[in-house]
Amino acid sequence: MFYGPTEERMWAAVAVAGRDAAGQAREFDIDLYGEQGRLCASLRGWCSAPMAALEPAAVLDLYRWTWQGRGDAAQSAAATQIWLAPCFAALVPELAGGAPCRVLPAQAAGSAAEAFEDLAAYLFAELRQQLAATAPAPVRWQLVWPLEEAGQAHGLLGLFKTAALEHPCFSAQLIEVPAVLAASQLRAMLAGAGNDSLVRYQDGRPEVLRPVALPPAGPAPQPWMEQGSYALIGGLGGIGRAIAADILAASSQARVVLLGRRPPSPDSAAVLAALDPQGGRLSYVQLDAADAGQVRQWTAGLAAAGERLRGIVHCAGILDDRALLGKQEVDFRRVLQSKVRALVNLDQATAALPLDFLVCCSSLSGAFGNHGQADYAAANAFLDAYMVQRAARVAAGQAHGLSISVQWPLWEEGGMRMAPALVDAMRVRQGLLPLPQRSALEALRQAIALGEPVLMPLYGQRQAMAAWLDAAFSAALPAPAPLAWSRCAARSPALRA
Ligand SMILES: NC(=O)c1ccc[n+]([C@@H]2O[C@H](COP(=O)([O-])OP(=O)(O)OC[C@H]3O[C@@H](n4cnc5c(N)ncnc54)[C@H](OP(=O)(O)O)[C@@H]3O)[C@@H](O)[C@H]2O)c1
Repeated sequence: MFYGPTEERMWAAVAVAGRDAAGQAREFDIDLYGEQGRLCASLRGWCSAPMAALEPAAVLDLYRWTWQGRGDAAQSAAATQIWLAPCFAALVPELAGGAPCRVLPAQAAGSAAEAFEDLAAYLFAELRQQLAATAPAPVRWQLVWPLEEAGQAHGLLGLFKTAALEHPCFSAQLIEVPAVLAASQLRAMLAGAGNDSLVRYQDGRPEVLRPVALPPAGPAPQPWMEQGSYALIGGLGGIGRAIAADILAASSQARVVLLGRRPPSPDSAAVLAALDPQGGRLSYVQLDAADAGQVRQWTAGLAAAGERLRGIVHCAGILDDRALLGKQEVDFRRVLQSKVRALVNLDQATAALPLDFLVCCSSLSGAFGNHGQADYAAANAFLDAYMVQRAARVAAGQAHGLSISVQWPLWEEGGMRMAPALVDAMRVRQGLLPLPQRSALEALRQAIALGEPVLMPLYGQRQAMAAWLDAAFSAALPAPAPLAWSRCAARSPALRA
């Protein structure tokens, strides 16, 4: 920012404004003063990085998530508020006298998507109320959920982690415990939960979820089969088009249908013509995947036409980036629905179909939270958790095909974009680079070949990415954001991934 004319010779006051995962000073605030001490200009969050040193070393690394036992851990000193799932309501009188304790509302009958949306919206409203105070005191939420119903509530972590990034006075833990236990046992578990954002007690011992790098593998086989078709939900978007092009190029007969809410138009026709110049293998269907009736009608139509649907890639999603305190519930729910409700609708409507796979395009924001994206992060975290549950249902014969959630980082050529300052900050702080399309498509093939329910592909400088992950999971909450938010970036246009 300029405060007045600059002078030919000036003094520069330089202060460190940010450090990278290894503790090296990487961002600086620079104030330029005239010879008489007048402040002429300020540069906030200036950073530089040796591009040449980073880019040649860029690699694609794949991470899976594993539960690991954990010993004693430090505990936050912040005042604690306990939230209990309704099944623990009977323990409230015995827990009285400790931290304030509230019971979450019972879930109305409805789909898993509606239950999650209602729970997330309820806690979103609570958060807004508590964090709106002018100087809120440090607070930690401990939300207790039954182990037997683990999964669905994991989506809340995207909301909590974003709230913690936007409001450092806030932190939250989701603690999964057996549905039947005594108040004294629960008290001990809460006291020993440490600072991890997700802790589960199996056999009385705490376990935490950690990313583990998979050993580098050779190129994965093409997952696209000749006979049958693939549905790309949100397929007219950047990622959908890239996947469609890959399927059409890798096969000679496989058909692809792109689905999205917008009506067919000359623009969509041009996209189809560019991707499928011969015609006949690529089509577009107008469909709002968040509408269960429309999804059922579409799948019924497939069956009636004798179409063999082999795989679905759920790329639908919308953004409404805004700080948590600036969001309205109606918008919060809308962002959730494009991912959460869409996934549950697709899964339910295709439960009887012999799919090879159902793949979700999730995002790093689900695992780490992201400024301005409380809704989007919660939606992606739900996708991840839901695919773990679906994999278990497939194993029990209740659904078919691999269940895969890919936690994408920023694609170089995706439809959702990120401000250049944020891309720079992400490179400096996490060693992450935008994922080139070729590597993204390879990551998708690897994901399908591996069949891991949740896979996190990272692209960039291996050591820096690993150091960032170590730092993110070794210390207290909140974990550093994956998509860095430097002081200069904070003023830039909304984050777009
Ligand atoms: N691009 C990235 O770098 C990146 C990074 C991480 C994760 N992701 C995830 O990957 C997915 C695809 O990203 P993208 O870059 O391709 O985004 P995009 O270009 O914005 O495409 C998203 C598509 O979703 C469709 N859509 C939204 N709501 C829908 C609904 N209810 N039913 C059907 N279609 C719906 C939109 O089309 P209509 O408006 O016509 O419905 C749009 O074409 C997103 O879910 C995103 O969260 C992307």
